[in-house]
Amino acid sequence: MRHFSTLSPATATVCLGAGRGYGWQHVCMARHDHPVFSRVYTLLAGWEEEGSVGQMRSQVAGHLSGRTLIVGLGPGLDLGHLPPTVTEVVAVEPSAPMRRAATERIAAFDRPVELFDSVAEDLPLPDASVDSALVAYVMCSVDDPDAAAREIHRVLRPGGTLAVMEHVRGGEGSWPRRWQRAVSPVWPWVAGGCHCDRDTRATLAQAGFDVTGLADDSLVPLPPVAPMIVGTARR
Ligand SMILES: C[S@@+](CC[C@H](N)C(=O)[O-])C[C@H]1O[C@@H](n2cnc3c(N)ncnc32)[C@H](O)[C@@H]1O
Repeated sequence: MRHFSTLSPATATVCLGAGRGYGWQHVCMARHDHPVFSRVYTLLAGWEEEGSVGQMRSQVAGHLSGRTLIVGLGPGLDLGHLPPTVTEVVAVEPSAPMRRAATERIAAFDRPVELFDSVAEDLPLPDASVDSALVAYVMCSVDDPDAAAREIHRVLRPGGTLAVMEHVRGGEGSWPRRWQRAVSPVWPWVAGGCHCDRDTRATLAQAGFDVTGLADDSLVPLPPVAPMIVGTARR
């Protein structure tokens, strides 16, 4: 396993208390870190492993094979759902607390994992270098969804599969959409940069993916992180 944990040049770093005798590791926080959210998410997502979200992770991950990119690894829950057809994992995760939270799951995974401190918008991979890719609860959080989708399209080999499990914008006039409108100004602050009202299906189509394999789902009937799109997009 190669584990990259350097600060990314793409990640702006805020340092507090410089010159007061603190070690830099105690006072520097990168823009993507969100330490409180990382803890809460790791806890909540861990609980959901036994429930419908865990089942959905297995179903979606079942489409993956070969060298597989995980975009926004988070605490690494998806590793436990990857089928034997996945031969190796390359992952990007710009949050240091999330990378730390993933450490044990990476160590327990029985195939090679290469983890980069990088963002989806600037993947550190050559063109057509992965066989499949996974986005789960991450397209809501990237800074530039169009750039992220273009990058995933670039690194996926022609014909490759992008497995998708993302919450998206509700239909106009629906209750989920009303909730999203109400909370969207504050949601990124409470949910680690998450935007609850993105049209990720359109973003993926715009980047060149065939999105006919994506289905609408109301797995978690909990606006603002509902409804969802689940399934596969094809490069
Ligand atoms: C809600 S968590 C989901 C984590 C994981 N995919 C899962 O399903 O449990 C969103 C993750 O996206 C990461 N993230 C945020 N901005 C990103 C970016 N620009 N590129 C890649 N990952 C990003 C966050 O650090 C966080 O780990």
